[in-house]
Amino acid sequence: MVKLKFFITYARCMKKKKDLELKDYELCFIPVPVYLISTVDEHNIYNIAPYGMVMPVSYHPLIISIGSSKNRDTYRNIKAINEFVLNAPSSNMLKKVNRTADPVPSEVDEFIHANLTPIESKIVKPPRIEECTTHMECKTMWIKEVSEEAKNRVIITAEVVALSLDEDLLRTNLCKQKGLMRPLYYEKHIYFTLGGYIGDRRMR
Ligand SMILES: Cc1cc2nc3c(=O)[nH]c(=O)nc-3n(C[C@H](O)[C@H](O)[C@H](O)COP(=O)(O)O)c2cc1C
Repeated sequence: MVKLKFFITYARCMKKKKDLELKDYELCFIPVPVYLISTVDEHNIYNIAPYGMVMPVSYHPLIISIGSSKNRDTYRNIKAINEFVLNAPSSNMLKKVNRTADPVPSEVDEFIHANLTPIESKIVKPPRIEECTTHMECKTMWIKEVSEEAKNRVIITAEVVALSLDEDLLRTNLCKQKGLMRPLYYEKHIYFTLGGYIGDRRMR
């Protein structure tokens, strides 16, 4: 009887794992934060595109990496000018974010197409996006093809040379600050918002 009880409890606790095909990757990934990357081409045409494959690789010095297809005006502009801005859109900008992902010709100013406002950057040539909450001005360090099989994909690594944000987001409480940012997250065509505060590094 005791043995049976133990077996039932054990069986309940055991989580069954299911193998997946690699094509079902979206079931394993955690949604990624979305940035709007603003760039400019050699003819001074402004471009914007949403990017989720963005990650910090070092905080001191401040360095980030981006995963990009070569089939993007964003990639071509970064390759030509070596500068770009990572702007953080809020969840209330979702429709405008989608407009910046429209496949428009490179001659089209995407600030006009998405009805967004360019403001001069502090250091780099591409403008910041006024409607976004935070801005990271970046200078390219290197661009590398990912692999023989993924020839069309590159990693762009860049140094962040200037930071700015909406003044009313300057809070000592980081939790409140993130709440006010209302960042946008993405996984395979679906958007999410940030969940709530659940604890800090001191928790054991
Ligand atoms: C939310 C979201 C995130 C995206 N993230 C990436 C990304 O990280 N890398 C990439 O190459 N394309 C990404 N894309 C696709 C490009 O944004 C899209 O192809 C866009 O039209 C490219 O614009 P461009 O040619 O003006 O650069 C994403 C699209 C969306 C909607």
